Amino acid sequence: MNVFITKPIPDVGIKLMEDAGYLVAIHNETEPLPQDKLIEKCQQYDALISAGFNKIDAHFLQKCKHLKVVSLFSVGYDSVDIDAATRLKIPVGNTPDVLSRATADVAFLLMLAVSRKAFFNYKKILDGKWDGFEPVANLGQELYGKTLGVFGLGNIGFEMAKKCKAAFDMKIIYHNRKPNGHAEAALDAKYVSFEELLQQSDVLTLHANFTEETKGIFNKDAFSKMKRNAIFINTGRGGLHNEVDLKEALHAGIIWGAGLDVTNPEPMDKNNPLLFMPNVCVLPHIGSATLEARDGMAMLAAKNVIAAFKGERLPTIVNP
Ligand code: DGY
Repeated sequence: MNVFITKPIPDVGIKLMEDAGYLVAIHNETEPLPQDKLIEKCQQYDALISAGFNKIDAHFLQKCKHLKVVSLFSVGYDSVDIDAATRLKIPVGNTPDVLSRATADVAFLLMLAVSRKAFFNYKKILDGKWDGFEPVANLGQELYGKTLGVFGLGNIGFEMAKKCKAAFDMKIIYHNRKPNGHAEAALDAKYVSFEELLQQSDVLTLHANFTEETKGIFNKDAFSKMKRNAIFINTGRGGLHNEVDLKEALHAGIIWGAGLDVTNPEPMDKNNPLLFMPNVCVLPHIGSATLEARDGMAMLAAKNVIAAFKGERLPTIVNP
């Protein structure tokens, strides 16, 4: 049995598969494989670890229906047509839990950075524009006792809410497909409608899956219902917000600021006006980029492959 990996991943995962007796090949080049080449490549392999958000759509899956597993090096599985994979009986695995704390750390970091305009003020130093102490310039806003709204309170949203409650005694409200009893008991989180989430949040943080239902849900209409002091944080998927509408809302002062670890498209163009706005902080999709989380992801991705090769259920399977 052999495995193809679309980008280098931490050694622990590769070792696990090699120790189990499987052959592992890695696409070790800066340029990702174009889709047709990836399909061609996969003809020679029994399993795929997709580490670069390749589009695993119905066409890909039909051409590669011999694959015993598609193992994602990510918790998000919006890159895969899960219905098509299920129809073709291809199990799809992802990497939940191991990256929840790391990703929530980045959401928290962005929230603080935006609230104190940290990136903009740092750029001022680089640009030689630090002229001295200014009593009424560079003013941010404090977060103590404010309301955190969580859109998609799963494992990552829970970790973010826990930090916000512990650090700033923030009140937690959330909107989900179904209520999260654990968060309600542990954090006194309150389930609210989407409208209420928009209207009541001082900080609105996104941790929902990217689906047809959530695509572009944070648009002009949504931003217009938010508080003028609101901070918008997206560490989920860039497609959850409409970038043109977000820029307008920030520019017109409809909301106060935004922190993004994900954009649409990725990578973001280096001349994108968002990068030059005082109330915006952008990071290059580094939510899970810690040694610990990435090792955990590599282990899970490998365990999913090994389980599939043994004909067992994947430890973290996405198919229903
Ligand atoms: C994921 O796991 O889905 C992240 O976006 C990559 O860390």
